[in-house]
Amino acid sequence: MDNQITYPYIEAFLNELEPPEDDFLRALEDEARRDNVPAAVRPTARLLYVLAKLKQPERILEVGTAIGYSALTLYAGSGEKAKIVTIEKDEERFLLARNNFRSFGALTDIKPLCGDAEELIDTLSDTFDMVFIDAAKGASMRYFEKILPKVKPGGMIVTDNVLYGGRTAAPGEPAHKHRTGVRIMRQYLDFLCTDPRFYTAVLPVGDGVAITLLKD
Ligand SMILES: C[S@@+](CC[C@H](N)C(=O)[O-])C[C@H]1O[C@@H](n2cnc3c(N)ncnc32)[C@H](O)[C@@H]1O
Repeated sequence: MDNQITYPYIEAFLNELEPPEDDFLRALEDEARRDNVPAAVRPTARLLYVLAKLKQPERILEVGTAIGYSALTLYAGSGEKAKIVTIEKDEERFLLARNNFRSFGALTDIKPLCGDAEELIDTLSDTFDMVFIDAAKGASMRYFEKILPKVKPGGMIVTDNVLYGGRTAAPGEPAHKHRTGVRIMRQYLDFLCTDPRFYTAVLPVGDGVAITLLKD
């Protein structure tokens, strides 16, 4: 199943319309596409940038660094003021990301950690006012539950890939290999949208983005 979240012509239009403003980020985006590294698509990156501009977070946690494109996008959106912790389990990507943070001049503000997020989240003593969850889709709810006690009242948690190429919303029985993933993502969205502790909006941007605000 191709991405069935929006029309291909709209995706193509948005991809042309919204390049990153920063040359370094544009080069990083090209590098990720060229090397087949998963990174936020342009409309999602644009959304992250604007959310960070609006929120002006002091501390951001990211789960799923890849080579650092979204972390640097959030950093740029914060006016290069946020302190960011970002977690990546793949050592090669972690090293590339650390180099990219250094080249951007952000290594004092962005702290990359290498390891399994489910273990590392428990070791964090900081609290955060913005979180970006973008690692293993099937584990998003587990990351969320572990992170929740470390998010300040009024904090924002953004989760990528919640529409799972459109499968989360598609009618009928999902293909066998996607059945568990679809069930887990539907449960996660139901939790985000009905739990009285949160306000959540789910947007058909990129692979589907949920924006959750914790009530004060
Ligand atoms: C979609 S990519 C992240 C893209 C990145 N946020 C960006 O937009 O530039 C997901 C990353 O999460 C990492 N990952 C998957 N499971 C993980 C886990 N349990 N702990 C830490 N990282 C994980 C993968 O290795 C992969 O690099």
